[in-house]
Amino acid sequence: MRILAFETTCDETSAAVMEGDRLRSNSVFSQIELHRKYSGVVPELASRAHLEKIPFVLKGALGAAGFRLPLRAGAFDAVAFSRGPGLPGALMVGRVAAEAAAELAGAPLIGVNHLEGHLLACEFEGGRACRPLQFPLLALIVSGGHTEIWHARGYGDYKVLGRTRDDAAGEAFDKVAKLLGLPYPGGPSVEKAAAGARGKAHKFPRPLMEGTWDFSFSGLKTAVSYYLAKELGQDFYKRGLRLPPAKRALVCRAFQDAVAETLVHKAAAAARRLGLKRIAVGGGVSANKAIRAAFARLADFETRFSEKAYCSDNAAMVALCARRRLQAGKFANSLRVDPVLALPGWKQGTLLTI
Ligand code: KG4
Ligand code: ZN
Repeated sequence: MRILAFETTCDETSAAVMEGDRLRSNSVFSQIELHRKYSGVVPELASRAHLEKIPFVLKGALGAAGFRLPLRAGAFDAVAFSRGPGLPGALMVGRVAAEAAAELAGAPLIGVNHLEGHLLACEFEGGRACRPLQFPLLALIVSGGHTEIWHARGYGDYKVLGRTRDDAAGEAFDKVAKLLGLPYPGGPSVEKAAAGARGKAHKFPRPLMEGTWDFSFSGLKTAVSYYLAKELGQDFYKRGLRLPPAKRALVCRAFQDAVAETLVHKAAAAARRLGLKRIAVGGGVSANKAIRAAFARLADFETRFSEKAYCSDNAAMVALCARRRLQAGKFANSLRVDPVLALPGWKQGTLLTI
């Protein structure tokens, strides 16, 4: 089974080719440099960059897998794309590219959920999807736009237990990095700074630990900004004031610890409540070593992460979603681009209480 896939939900333009469980290529163009000076993704710039780069990314993915343009009929058994959630204009670029490729290859088009891709990315090892997830499990998706916990009962069978009510975990990393004067994207910058922290750090609050499966990270970001205002003066941000590097490192570690503890506490509590023994974590934030280490300390669960290369957005995970669906046989397929595509949720308070 040969699958061509596209990923354009946010700021990575990517195309991948999968043959059987083997990943033949995964070509990714990251727009980070383009967005860095704005300290966040600018949607209109992102769509334009996707449009500009997608022919090259596609050519790269096809070339590395031994294919050439123009695609001939029968080259692929399916063409997949992320249909959401994501930025509207960016999603459209992926869909149009996928449609064109599907037309040329005479292959069916499959629209997948980007967040499911982050979960299934855990199955890749050494370029093969050779470590299938064992269901049921508790899935935690932590990215720049989403923070969600799911009860995952099988491929495509997910129920959302909780999601962030405000900022996603990655967004909080990005905003805290900006407050501290660290470069975008904030996750890797904060992680790097935190690694050099020595001594006792301030303790930031652990938000919404009890009473709900939802998350909230904007208060944590505000707590960091109050701390900085206390240290540097109210108008620290306007005046471009920064903490000395040693102190800044301690703030990074304290913030990262607060995020890690919140994620681990909630995921473990939900898994226990549902009687699940496995936890799988996906999304850009799951690349964080401190967060991985915090999950690894959970003795009573088997925890899974994706290899670093597949934590951030990529088309390999999109191809794998399509593969698992095709293997399952019958599945609902929508090609509609949906910026707020959401999985079904538990009815809060009826099926599950914390
Ligand atoms: O999954 P992803 O590539 O894109 C979205 O679907 O959003 O996630 C990007 C997010 C950014 O907010 C970035 O700061 C964060 O993941 N991130 C990290 C790390 N690497 C990327 N956060 C914490 N630690 C990291 N090492
Ligand atoms: Zn993502």
